[in-house]
Order: sequence, then structure tokens, then C-alpha cells
Amino acid sequence: MNLKRIAAYEAAKEIKDGQIIGLGTGSTTHYFIEKVGMRVQEEEISIMGVPTSYQSFMIAKEWKIPVTTLEEHNIDIAVDGADEIDPDFNLIKGGGGAHTLEKIVDYSAEELIIIADDSKMIDKLGNFPVPLEIIPQSNKLVFESLKDMGADSKIRMAIAKDGPVISENGNFIIDAKFHEIDNPIQLEKDLNSIPGIVENGIFSQMVDKVILGTSNGVEVLK
Ligand code: A5P
Repeated sequence: MNLKRIAAYEAAKEIKDGQIIGLGTGSTTHYFIEKVGMRVQEEEISIMGVPTSYQSFMIAKEWKIPVTTLEEHNIDIAVDGADEIDPDFNLIKGGGGAHTLEKIVDYSAEELIIIADDSKMIDKLGNFPVPLEIIPQSNKLVFESLKDMGADSKIRMAIAKDGPVISENGNFIIDAKFHEIDNPIQLEKDLNSIPGIVENGIFSQMVDKVILGTSNGVEVLK
């Protein structure tokens, strides 16, 4: 059983005719966009998507889902993945480097649903490093500030390109490993107060519902 797919397909059932949908990024939302595309073709529902990355834009186009922007439409519902989810529904996101636009879209949505396999649900955030999108010139300052905060940090390096990953906004991505994240709400604010950090991958107090794929089927948490 593909746990990401069953969570994603369950979320796609929630989409209603006429809605504007925030389209998250990653392997789980890939299935979601695919299933919404099937519904558009089979049920002829009329919806529009607001992509959070080139990836979600391209999948939406492949499935003939009309796309729009935050300038033109308000978002009724956003569906996105996560790298970690705590019991209060605080998240770490940005494994795919798309967290800046994801946060803008997810925050703008009337309702935010997170879809994931159940391995993403953990007691306390912090096993996964916190992705930070930074202005390249702020590299040294950000590294020093993170060290003072007790994090081990690395610039994310590209695989099919020499040198660092360059985000879709032309920036570097740093992965900051904190040993303990006791207060994600505060850490989210503290990170964004360091000059040069455009956005960090902690998403606190935003989620309305989590749909998990488990070996026993789908579990919906509110
Ligand atoms: C994209 O930058 C991320 O925020 C993803 O949403 C997150 O990494 C989850 O990805 P998967 O669905 O591929 O696990």
C-alpha cells in the first residue's frame, strides 16, 4: 500500500466544485494534484490551482488543471505535505526547498490540510533539520547566528549541478539541525528575525487538518 497516495487521494475527495486550491510541493502532493486532475476530467468539476513551485505548476498543467495566482484569487483550501508533524500540528517543511512560497500560499488559504504517511508524525520536531531560504550574501552572518542558537548548519548542495542548490527565488538553502526544538512557535519567529533569512521551514499554528496514510488505512486528525 502506498501510504502517501492513500492520504493524498483522501484529501482530493474534499475538493468541491468552484474552489481555488493551493497546490503544495513534494512527492505526496504529486498524488494529490494527480487525483484532483482526474476529478476535473471525470466529474468536470471547475476548480483552479495556485502552485507553490515549478513542480506543482508542471503537474497541474500535465493534468489540465487551470492555474491562477494569489493576486487574482483568494484560496479556499490548500493541501500540502510535510517533513515532520508534531501533536500540536506544528510542522517542518522545505525538504524540497519550496517552503517560502508554500508558507505564503498555505497561510493565505481559508483551510489548510496536511497530507503525509504516518512516519512524518513525531512527538517533537527536530530530527529533520529546519530548511532556511537565505539571501546568498547573508551566508556568514546566518551561519554565525545559527551557531549561537546551538544549530549545526549546512548549505544544501545540488546533485545534478555543481555548487549549492539555488531556490526558485534565486537564493541559497541552509539546513539547520537543532538538537531540541522545545518551542517551535518561538523558533519560527526567532529565525525570521535574522537578517538574510527570507523564510524558515517551521510552520506553526496554521494547520486545520492532517490526513495520514497508515498501514490500516487513512487516519484523519483535527
Ligand atoms: C517541499 O519543499 C516540502 O515542504 C514538502 O512539502 C515536504 O518536504 C514533504 O515532501 P514529501 O511529500 O515528498 O515527503
